[in-house]
Amino acid sequence: MGSQWGYDKTYLRAKHEGYRSRAAYKLTEIQQKFSVIRADDNIVDLGAAPGSWLQVERTLTQAWVLGIDLNPIAALEGVETIEGDLNDPEVLEKVRSMLGVVNVVLCDAAPRLSGHKSYDQARIIELDEQALLFACRVLKQGGNFVVKSFQGTDFPELYAMTKAHFYSVKTCITRSTRKGSTELYIIAKNFTG
Ligand SMILES: C[S@@+](CC[C@H](N)C(=O)[O-])C[C@H]1O[C@@H](n2cnc3c(N)ncnc32)[C@H](O)[C@@H]1O
Repeated sequence: MGSQWGYDKTYLRAKHEGYRSRAAYKLTEIQQKFSVIRADDNIVDLGAAPGSWLQVERTLTQAWVLGIDLNPIAALEGVETIEGDLNDPEVLEKVRSMLGVVNVVLCDAAPRLSGHKSYDQARIIELDEQALLFACRVLKQGGNFVVKSFQGTDFPELYAMTKAHFYSVKTCITRSTRKGSTELYIIAKNFTG
């Protein structure tokens, strides 16, 4: 429930615990339920600003954590960042040369919303497909992929496309997702190539 300042409990908890946003709890829950990250995984996080997922990822792996966003990401110890578009081939090349092997691709990216529901839904699915393509280009066989999406007419197609590349695909609506939101995450494990 919102407080008189318009902040909800999860927002205040995130502030108190030093996270850059409430989104931290979504990744924590996904990890608890699906174990998508192992202690020696190299991780690429797409749409990573302001960086709360990066904070969580840093605690889960001893290996590389690399965040990519259109916006700058304020420095975090032990985390590399690239300011750029996940669709930019130069960004993809940088990722390959920095990490070599990529075990996990996470994407919490969201486009700027216009307020027109069907247009926004199409833009989100388009971004998700781009993230899936990115994952397919960099992931090691057996790797994992998580992407934020929204329920709607185009969602089943995205789900089917993801299924074509991973051995196991599930969906998850996290506890800290706002009530009434259609947001959900696709959890895709074991990249088949
Ligand atoms: C909801 S925020 C991510 C929050 C982040 N997971 C965290 O925990 O702090 C969505 C981000 O996606 C980024 N984004 C949207 N389109 C993108 C693109 N094409 N390439 C890279 N980043 C993108 C936005 O700039 C925005 O910072």
